[in-house]
Amino acid sequence: MDRMKVAIHHRKGSFSDRWIEYLQEKNIPYVLLNAFDNDIIKQIKDHKATHFMWHFNQNYFEDMLHAKNLFRSVNQIGIKTYPNEESYWHFDDKVAQKYLLEALEVPLVKADVFYHQKEAEKYIEKTSFPKVFKLKGGAGSINVKLVKTKQEAKKLVNKAFNGGFAAFDSWAVFTDTIERFWRQKTRHNFLRILKWGFKGIFVDKQYKVFPKQRNYVYFQEFIPGLKYDIRLIVIGAKCYYLKRNTRDNDFRASGSGMLEFAPGQFNLEAVDIAFKAARKLNMVSVAYDFIFDSEDKPLMVEISYGFQPVVYDRCLGYYDADLNWHEAKVNLEYEIVHSFLNDF
Ligand SMILES: Nc1ncnc2c1ncn2[C@@H]1O[C@H](COP(=O)(O)OP(=O)(O)O)[C@@H](O)[C@H]1O
Ligand SMILES: [Mg+2]
Repeated sequence: MDRMKVAIHHRKGSFSDRWIEYLQEKNIPYVLLNAFDNDIIKQIKDHKATHFMWHFNQNYFEDMLHAKNLFRSVNQIGIKTYPNEESYWHFDDKVAQKYLLEALEVPLVKADVFYHQKEAEKYIEKTSFPKVFKLKGGAGSINVKLVKTKQEAKKLVNKAFNGGFAAFDSWAVFTDTIERFWRQKTRHNFLRILKWGFKGIFVDKQYKVFPKQRNYVYFQEFIPGLKYDIRLIVIGAKCYYLKRNTRDNDFRASGSGMLEFAPGQFNLEAVDIAFKAARKLNMVSVAYDFIFDSEDKPLMVEISYGFQPVVYDRCLGYYDADLNWHEAKVNLEYEIVHSFLNDF
């Protein structure tokens, strides 16, 4: 591309902090815009932007309401967006991902979804338990629970097709916060957790605007006995690695904060699957959660274009497509903007 101009919706604490650093370093023209401005389309056109980037986030209802419409609209007039349509349409939606991953024939943990109470009840009668029940959105394991019996499943189905579920369960966040405090009893953690607990209980007006989750159920085969899951992130020709240990007496790893960055022993087939799936998915950046079945076969749990910024600085390197490990300093925000602007 001869002339490049990057428009960015900037939010402090998101990927865009470092995107801006990158663009300044490389002397690439850019402009910071507010995606929520009523005349945002005109602004993007007036600036003759060739690229538009926004690290939109599932925790902000206004992002979820607006981002896809804006991306799709500017894409229609030839402006490249990060994330691209292949990345954002299923973002924070495990139900959408079930169909996508089935269509692409990538190995995923078997998930069963129903949209009518009758069918869900029939399913419960003949399936086995335990199963994992999930809402389609949410992160950090908040909306993921183990269903041990048919009776429990019936209650959940009933709730799903009547009142529905809060998209953001303050009680789950609160109990998780307390649990984390007991596990990591340091002053630093106490303060951090107090802050998070406070956010979880009182300041979550931000979350209360999300509509109830209802009229569908998502059950997933339960893979027992796991002590961790792994997060692989593919950007361009590199695959980054993070291991997340499960909470004590709990099958759930995501959100536990118990992280390991040194690539330990795990079935490297997961890395191969991650690279191959990334090509089919056509995403600039894709984060996968993998778990391993009783035969150590890697299975995908969910995918996401976005993730927590900065955390992955602690990664120690990456795998290449031949599954060789390379030690390296890691800055995923740079990798993303670099990959995106160079047509990944
Ligand atoms: N089907 C499953 N069997 C066993 N463990 C699971 C299963 N699904 C999820 N988990 C565990 O629960 C955690 C949260 O699940 P996930 O679907 O990734 O939700 P979230 O979006 O909250 O991260 C995972 O990190 C994994 O440790
Ligand atoms: Mg997860």
